[in-house]
Amino acid sequence: MDKSFHSVRKQFVKSVLRESQVDKDPLLQLELWLTDAINSECPEPTAMVLSTAGIDLKPSSRVVLMKDLDVQGITFFTNYESRKGQQLRDNPHASLVFFWPRLERQVRIEGTVSKVTEEESDAYFASRPEASQISAIISPQSREIPSREWLEKRWQSAVGSKQSAVETHIYVSVGSRQLAAGSRPSNWGGYRLVPDYFEFWQGRAERLHDRLIYQPDESGWRIFRLAP
Ligand SMILES: Cc1cc2nc3c(=O)[nH]c(=O)nc-3n(C[C@H](O)[C@H](O)[C@H](O)COP(=O)(O)O)c2cc1C
Repeated sequence: MDKSFHSVRKQFVKSVLRESQVDKDPLLQLELWLTDAINSECPEPTAMVLSTAGIDLKPSSRVVLMKDLDVQGITFFTNYESRKGQQLRDNPHASLVFFWPRLERQVRIEGTVSKVTEEESDAYFASRPEASQISAIISPQSREIPSREWLEKRWQSAVGSKQSAVETHIYVSVGSRQLAAGSRPSNWGGYRLVPDYFEFWQGRAERLHDRLIYQPDESGWRIFRLAP
């Protein structure tokens, strides 16, 4: 094996994380760190790794974009029939990881996932650019497809149908489905993770990193430190 990876290492020296500094509410602390990531122009600051496991208990991970953060939890949007959608149907327990290398920070979150309301999914779908809406409609996410050309043809024909639908104010035809122009397909929408565990990680010099955990207790959240 090529050993050159062994020398890839850097010192983490950007900041510190103290119990006295952090918000008592982990969702507010997450909002603070997300704001720092956005203000520091971290690439894709809202990107997070979502890990799920279905009935076979084999974990699988992929990046999704966080689209909402509030007292209820953390929301992302996807295809309900995708691999992650099927796994979440079988097992709602999931984890999320944010990593902002520029800030030398990681946040790990665990919790239970459920679908957001139809109204929330409709509202977010309607806010997306039309090209993204069409892609969500025509892409059978996570299914095997014959070719790139097959996908592009499907997209083009949906664009054509949509244009004529707009002219005649009627419907978009996608595959065997008929969709009201601009409407969200029922297999696409949001999920919300309601967290029951947070870890805020700040890289420190000599690998003596800061790790603060939040776990629910009677008074709200218990905050404690783990060894790095
Ligand atoms: C930066 C980035 C952002 C992404 N955002 C999303 C997203 O918000 N929703 C989504 O379904 N897939 C998103 N993807 C694609 C997923 O990583 C993944 O390929 C897709 O959801 C299928 O995953 P699955 O087969 O495990 O269901 C994103 C990928 C990257 C790299």
